[in-house]
Amino acid sequence: MEKRWWKESIVYQIYPRSFKDSNGDGIGDLNGITEKMDYLQKLGINVLWLSPVYKSPNDDNGYDISNYQAIMDEFGTMEDFDRMLTAAHEHGIKLVMDLVVNHTSDEHPWFIESQKSVDNPYRDYYIWRPGKDGKEPNNWGSCFSGPAWKYDEKTDMYYLHLFSKKQPDLNWDNPKVRQEVFDMMNWWLDKGVDGFRMDVISLISKKPDLPDGPVGINGYASFNEPANGPHVHEYLQEMREKVLNNADTITVGECSGVTLEEAKKYARSDEKELNMVFQFEHMDVDADGTNKWTDKKMDLRDLKEILTKWQKGLEDIAWNSLFWENHDQPRSVSRFGNDSREYHDVSAKMLATCLHMMQGTPYVYQGQELGMTNVPFTSVEDFRDLDSINAYHELVEEQEVFTSEEMMGYLRYKSRDNARTPFQWDDSENAGFTTGTPWIMVNPNYKEINVKAELENPDSIFYYYQKLIQLRKEKEIIVYGSYDLLLPDSKEIYAYTRTLGEEKLLVVCNFSETEVEMEIPKEFRNADYLISNYETRPLEKIMALRPYESFVVEK
Ligand code: GLC
Ligand code: CA
Repeated sequence: MEKRWWKESIVYQIYPRSFKDSNGDGIGDLNGITEKMDYLQKLGINVLWLSPVYKSPNDDNGYDISNYQAIMDEFGTMEDFDRMLTAAHEHGIKLVMDLVVNHTSDEHPWFIESQKSVDNPYRDYYIWRPGKDGKEPNNWGSCFSGPAWKYDEKTDMYYLHLFSKKQPDLNWDNPKVRQEVFDMMNWWLDKGVDGFRMDVISLISKKPDLPDGPVGINGYASFNEPANGPHVHEYLQEMREKVLNNADTITVGECSGVTLEEAKKYARSDEKELNMVFQFEHMDVDADGTNKWTDKKMDLRDLKEILTKWQKGLEDIAWNSLFWENHDQPRSVSRFGNDSREYHDVSAKMLATCLHMMQGTPYVYQGQELGMTNVPFTSVEDFRDLDSINAYHELVEEQEVFTSEEMMGYLRYKSRDNARTPFQWDDSENAGFTTGTPWIMVNPNYKEINVKAELENPDSIFYYYQKLIQLRKEKEIIVYGSYDLLLPDSKEIYAYTRTLGEEKLLVVCNFSETEVEMEIPKEFRNADYLISNYETRPLEKIMALRPYESFVVEK
């Protein structure tokens, strides 16, 4: 297997709005990030992915961009950005920008022009269609509730928005659009950024006839209908030639709706497209079909089957990215672990072990390294995320699919805002995030779960992550070894091996709060511990795994 720096890296994702506020306006900002580079260096990560910092009306917190070459007012200035970039590089940290080019903001000058008339030079930058029988052109739904089309009186046509009404989809079939995007990317590379995380890049190429799709609980087809469209690979190869080859970049495509076969093309090892993709099958493991609004718990066997399919399926062909969390997902310790006082620490460490020992590039989402948890939101007014708010209105008030109590339960479990509350720096007011009023509530558990407390405790989740990250840097087998699943039928234990030449690791994770017995394979009974979330004990043939116990041993 080809060795590459981006395979050996550990990426940390910052959601700037919630990381650190430097000027007391209640909103995290670039200077706040610059202040905290020592912290990131201490954790050991070497790549930083920043959620969008560009000029934006903030309908979707920066994922609706009105100027790709300017900084959002609340976050600071371009000078602040340059200082942050320099500070990152001085700390040995590369910077990955969020590239949001499936759509722009409706306040982007291109869209403002496009809307004016059917013969405006920018008309074809977006996807306009006449209605069908007085209704939307097809049955696609927006990711954020309602139809994916908005009627515009001015020209008596609809424009497509797979996300909010304020996020019109760009028309990638127009070569001018592609050139604008490529020029903009080159401008950022010239500035010295090191790569891109590409927002819903799997959706950029739509079938020309925009066919209807099967409908979900709210009566619309999924926003994922256009996934892996007819020209997506061609466009990414063009991007590779015109942009990505101009620097030594790291690229990851957010590929909603990606299949294993498609991922082999996006993340192909001949490096003609992207380095790796985010796939989402394991994020749907606790969904109800295509509906994420449920409090169903996952079955561990399903999780193992999915992750094993991706581990084995991409081996030697492409490259995985490894994640439990990001700004669109609830907190993993509350979702796949156990956030009760008793098991919070061990289960957070167990999840970390399980993921960080796999093959692929690991991503740590801000606060995950502290075991930050889901948030006890009490009313719909507590939410800021348009996905959560729209879903509540649609499914409770308009369509009465769920009662308010049911939906609040689902939101507390799955809302994206669980990941977006202020980063917990210490036990002072507002968790040390801001001296002002935070834009979204602080999780009340900040007095116990925060950086200050964890840095003072050698047994903390933080130091456990630090150790996992260090191990990956020291041991090639963790990066490049092949993966093999053990005990596929166990409902409690996730165990697997990694193999590189003569070397071999055994990774054991108990996903349950009860003791479970496991037979340790013979070849590992004399092995040495690399890490464990409990006090270690001698390896034996039959081991009673303690609640959420996990360890890694090396033959
Ligand atoms: C991606 C982002 C998400 C955003 C959406 C629209 O899924 O991760 O936060 O809302 O795209 O840009
Ligand atoms: Ca601020």
